[in-house]
Formats: sequence, C-alpha cells, structure tokens
Amino acid sequence: MKKVMLAGLIALTALPALAAPGGAERQQSFKKLLRSFEPMGLMVREREPYKKDEFIKHADALKKMAAEPFTLFAPNSIDAKSRSKPEIWTQPAKFAAEKDKFLKAVDELDATAKTGDLAQIKKSFGGVAQTCKSCHDAFRGPER
Ligand code: HEC
Repeated sequence: MKKVMLAGLIALTALPALAAPGGAERQQSFKKLLRSFEPMGLMVREREPYKKDEFIKHADALKKMAAEPFTLFAPNSIDAKSRSKPEIWTQPAKFAAEKDKFLKAVDELDATAKTGDLAQIKKSFGGVAQTCKSCHDAFRGPER
C-alpha cells in the first residue's frame, strides 16, 4: 500500500514537466533566434561594420537553433499567451511548407556567410527575413 502511494506521489510531482508547451515557451524559443538574427541584420543594413567571422558565428548559431521552436507546437496548445493561429493545426501541410522554406533559407544563409561575399549575404539574409514574414502573415495572430 505504501509503495503504491509513493508511486502516485512521484507521478504527480513529475506532471508539470510533462505539460505541453504553450505560447510562452514558443515565444521564448523564437526570441532566441533574434540573438543571432538581429546582429546579422545590423551588419547587412550597415549599421554595424560587417565582420566575416562574427557573421559566420551568428549564421551557424541561427542554423543550430532554427528548428527548435517547431518542436513546441503541440496540438490544442493555444493558450492565453499564444499568438498562434488555429490554422497551424487545421492547415498542417501549409505550415510545414512555411517551416521548410525557412529552414532552407537559413541553410543557404549559413553557406553564403562563409563566402564573405557581402552582396550575396545581403540577398540570403533578405531571403530568411522574407520567410519569417511570410509565416507570420499566415500563422501568427495579433499580440495579446
Ligand atoms: C513557419 C512559421 C514561422 C517562421 C518561419 C517564423 N516564425 Fe516567428 N512565430 C511564429 C508563430 C506561430 C509565432 C507565435 C507563437 C505563439 O505565440 O504561440 C511566432 C513568434 C515569434 C516571436 C515571439 C514574439 C511574439 O510575441 O510573437 C518572435 C520574436 C519571432 N516569432 C521571430 C521570428 C523570426 C525572427 C523569424 C525568422 C528568422 C521567425 N520568427 C520565423 C511562426 C513562425
């Protein structure tokens, strides 16, 4: 009997860790992308001097993190904080296509960064920014 109660207690305390991620977790994860995306943006807009090695470091970091937010879209996980539109789950193929376009653009930017060709880098960066916008336009609702 004691053993059963103990097992029940352990199961209960483990519950919060198992709760599906919601809007707050997703937003936090997307915000992590900004830590590399924004410094690259400053360089391509020539608000900061372009430094090849630093740019490569940010492009690599973006590539490493790019898929993470998309592991956090559990079904029925729209909560009070979430800006996710229900279409993410009712049009999964379209959402997946937006995600794939984004990941491909991030790969391309990572490859272009290594050439040090700033004109090409600007194009590739613009390509990534376009995929962020395209998905937000279709699948992100207003701020709450
Ligand atoms: C395939 C779709 C998709 C792509 C690509 C995408 N996002 Fe998002 N993003 C979302 C959705 C959906 C949310 C809202 C998540 C929520 O609140 O549930 C979001 C949220 C965010 C947030 C959190 C802040 C807020 O209040 O919404 C930031 C920051 C963000 N995205 C930046 C970016 C940047 C920068 C890129 C490109 C480098 C990008 N996103 C690419 C779909 C996308």
